[in-house]
Amino acid sequence: MDARDQIDMTRLPRHVAIIMDGNGRWAKAHGKPRVFGHRNGVKSVREVTEAAAEIGISYLTLYAFSTENWSRPASEVNALMQLLVQTVRKEIKTLQENQIRLQTIGDRSRLPSKTARTLEEAIEATRTNTRMTLILALNYSAKWEIAEATRLIANEVKNGTLQPDQITEQTIADHLNTAGIPDPELLIRTSGESRISNFLLWQIAYAELVFTPVMWPDFRKEHFKEALLDYQHRERRFGKTSDQLSSQNV
Ligand code: IPE
Ligand code: IPE
Ligand code: MG
Repeated sequence: MDARDQIDMTRLPRHVAIIMDGNGRWAKAHGKPRVFGHRNGVKSVREVTEAAAEIGISYLTLYAFSTENWSRPASEVNALMQLLVQTVRKEIKTLQENQIRLQTIGDRSRLPSKTARTLEEAIEATRTNTRMTLILALNYSAKWEIAEATRLIANEVKNGTLQPDQITEQTIADHLNTAGIPDPELLIRTSGESRISNFLLWQIAYAELVFTPVMWPDFRKEHFKEALLDYQHRERRFGKTSDQLSSQNV
């Protein structure tokens, strides 16, 4: 049976986040330079975006470049930035046709100006699309995002527009880059690594985590559907007991 037939369309996560990992190792296994892996990773981005939109996921966040990734060799960083510009330019038509809205999280102001400009144009052009929101995490790190939110909140307190005792979890959520976006219910990481690497620390407090050994350039629609099925087989208890959940369901 096709995996899709088994996905319960009434219990889909609204937001799926993915740590796209393993491009370099995949390239090495093919006897090629790391950038070959990144180029092939773009195909997976296309496949997964298409699958998510078809299935009816509302938000898809892809970790494309972390703050820590600046420490890679300059040649790799430049190749990634170039690839990003090329891909966004090339894919904008498809985004429009599929009614996909593009957004980013992370510090865009520190990206090369051409990269930032291309992204801003695509964000503006797709602003009113409603089928799915594709969020690229670029020059993103969760600790940076939380520090940034703290600075914003501190300024409001300083200006007198916010009192310290008014600060709630919602205040913090509203000052993160992801303000207004529901927390991901499902986080997928490829390449067999079982770590978070400074991604969405606040937002994944209750996400289901799926770690797959598949390298990102090999990740296809079927793998995405398998991760959704895995998610749907989990019992999300949110601190309650299993019995409480089953009595709620009757
Ligand atoms: C993920 O693949 C892509 C980025 C981090 C930009 P990697 O480049 O991290 O590949 P590995 O982990 O070295 O195999
Ligand atoms: C995480 O992957 C960042 C992205 C996928 C963009 P890394 O490959 O940079 O993570 P670590 O360094 O192995 O934890
Ligand atoms: Mg990696």
